[in-house]
Amino acid sequence: MPKRHLITCALPYANGPIHIGHIAGCFLPSDIHNRFLRMKGKDVLFVCGTDEHGVPITLKAKNEGKTPQQVVDENHIIIAKGLKDFGIHFDTFSRTTNALHHETAQAFFKNLYDKGVFTEDVTEQFYDEEAKQFLADRYITGTCPNCGYDNAYGDQCEKCGRASSPSELLKPRSALTGNSPILKETKNWYLPLDKLQDEFLNEWVESRKSSWKSSVYGQCYSWLKEGLKPRAMTRDLDWGVPVPVKDAEGKVMYVWFDAPIGYITATKEAAGADWEKWWMDPETELTHFLGKDNIVFHTIIFPAMLHAHGDFIVPTNVPANEFLNLEGDKISTSRNHAIWLHEYVEDFPGKTDELRYALNSILPETKDADFTWKDFQAKVNNELVAILGNFVNRVMVLTDKYYDGVVPLGSNTLDFTGSKVKIDEALAGFNQRQGLEYYMEIARSGNKYLQDTEPWKLVKDEANSQVVADCLFTCINVVKEIGNYAQIFLPETANKILGLLNLTSYQEEIKVGHKLNKPSLLFEKIEDELIAIQMEKLQKPKAQEVISVAEEKTVAAVKSEIVYDDFAKLDIRVATIVAAEKVKKADRLLHITLDLGWETRSVVSGIAAHFSPEDIVGQQVTYLANLAPRTLKGIESSGMILMAEDADGKLKFVSPADHTAPGSSIA
Ligand code: 2FM
Ligand code: ZN
Repeated sequence: MPKRHLITCALPYANGPIHIGHIAGCFLPSDIHNRFLRMKGKDVLFVCGTDEHGVPITLKAKNEGKTPQQVVDENHIIIAKGLKDFGIHFDTFSRTTNALHHETAQAFFKNLYDKGVFTEDVTEQFYDEEAKQFLADRYITGTCPNCGYDNAYGDQCEKCGRASSPSELLKPRSALTGNSPILKETKNWYLPLDKLQDEFLNEWVESRKSSWKSSVYGQCYSWLKEGLKPRAMTRDLDWGVPVPVKDAEGKVMYVWFDAPIGYITATKEAAGADWEKWWMDPETELTHFLGKDNIVFHTIIFPAMLHAHGDFIVPTNVPANEFLNLEGDKISTSRNHAIWLHEYVEDFPGKTDELRYALNSILPETKDADFTWKDFQAKVNNELVAILGNFVNRVMVLTDKYYDGVVPLGSNTLDFTGSKVKIDEALAGFNQRQGLEYYMEIARSGNKYLQDTEPWKLVKDEANSQVVADCLFTCINVVKEIGNYAQIFLPETANKILGLLNLTSYQEEIKVGHKLNKPSLLFEKIEDELIAIQMEKLQKPKAQEVISVAEEKTVAAVKSEIVYDDFAKLDIRVATIVAAEKVKKADRLLHITLDLGWETRSVVSGIAAHFSPEDIVGQQVTYLANLAPRTLKGIESSGMILMAEDADGKLKFVSPADHTAPGSSIA
């Protein structure tokens, strides 16, 4: 039994906000684990922060005409607020640009350096003579040797996807000045992973074979089988943690060297002078939560660093998740095919548990999963509203009606020990989807028990009064069980149930004679129009995001290729706006009537922030005529008006140069 539990959640890059892929990959799983262990009374520390170094951040800053510090400052605030609003509370949410982090990472580096762990190597790297700077792979563009695309990056061609090295590019150019770079010698410090593999990693990874997820062990196994090579831990760059040894001027640490040390920094911030026990006492259990693209860094490179240092423990488990897709397609920040956390909390106020529930039920624990808005709506309406919420509400309403909200003298006839053991086992084994299913079994059983007992019928006969009291006493206790475990899965709901039960903590017992609060609903149905608005949002890429392509590991400036038949399915027409009015209680929407020549069509369009209804009557537009109709705010909307959006997000109509007969086709 470990004495304490240190939980880390992969530090998100501060080059943009976070989306549901990050939430399903590591934020929600780590938060559930944290809540689970705390509920069991364990000593837990839960840390995270933003990863603020690395080349993509410098490129983003350059694209936006900002300093890297400005970029990370802005994003740190957005990310931290989104997480807080979503109810994910870390003991510390740190930053890798903090002075304490620089100090911590430098001390770590220095320790390895003084022990003679690093090897030094002089290699030739591309150098921009005008900018007087070595060029990171992403700072070099050139012609792809594979497909001939002439804007391929040094590490990857965006057109054909081929990974390459800068020296393979034909006609390489510097992204800083456009000049041809020269090759210049530079010294860097390498972590000898080959040596550390023999000395430590082979045996250590093997010892984790049965306790780690097979996907995690499998990835490590194939890396080790291939044989590790020394990896440079320093870079010629001016953004990062400066390398604290001699002859290293102008060099910073490789971002994957300093980022995981961010967990140590965050621990220092949270625990103060007491931090060492969390990292140096073998009785601490260290668990890293992350997505599958981060596995190698947490199971090979960081453990090798910790081992080489000598004073630190290594992780007990690394329960990495697979990826989450969205509406059947890969989440992409450059195409804006994503649901951003900060936007969700704004668009769905007071509905954080709804998203938690939907994501928890599809967590990509063993394979990639797909989030769809329809499934989200179905989970909320058919499970949270119809099962959990309905049960709690019926119990509250019946107690209010029969006993004026006072807990009756009865005995508890249901026992959920079995369900609770199953939930605990599932969560201890990182099977959080299964854990949620077992949790919902409690609500389902409560519902069934109430339905089978039918106190509303029994109450009519005085002779049944004890059976009715037992039924409601039992159900009130089931509500308490649901609320208690909601602390892990649905924290907002846990608070609401505590309020309904008029308790101050779930440790309190429900006593006979205790007065409950008045019933109120836990969840409300998600209507079709809310989902339609979100679907519409997904279909509109943000122009400014499309150009800032460098932030992703694989990127696409243009949507994936289609064949002519795909295009031919679209029926695009010229149409004329003949009437327009604001939609009530919807700031963004206009209700527009279009003349198509042979008929009029009604369209609800999200352009109210850009145009007044009276200004657009007579405007000719480009109209997608065969898009399936849907209902928005109770109005049927047929087809879609196509708009141009500039880099500032301004919308413009796309219309023919001269007046054209409505209904004319565009192809
Ligand atoms: O992939 C990522 O988003 C990285 N920023 C994760 C870093 S995790 C840790 F090492 F800090
Ligand atoms: Zn290519």
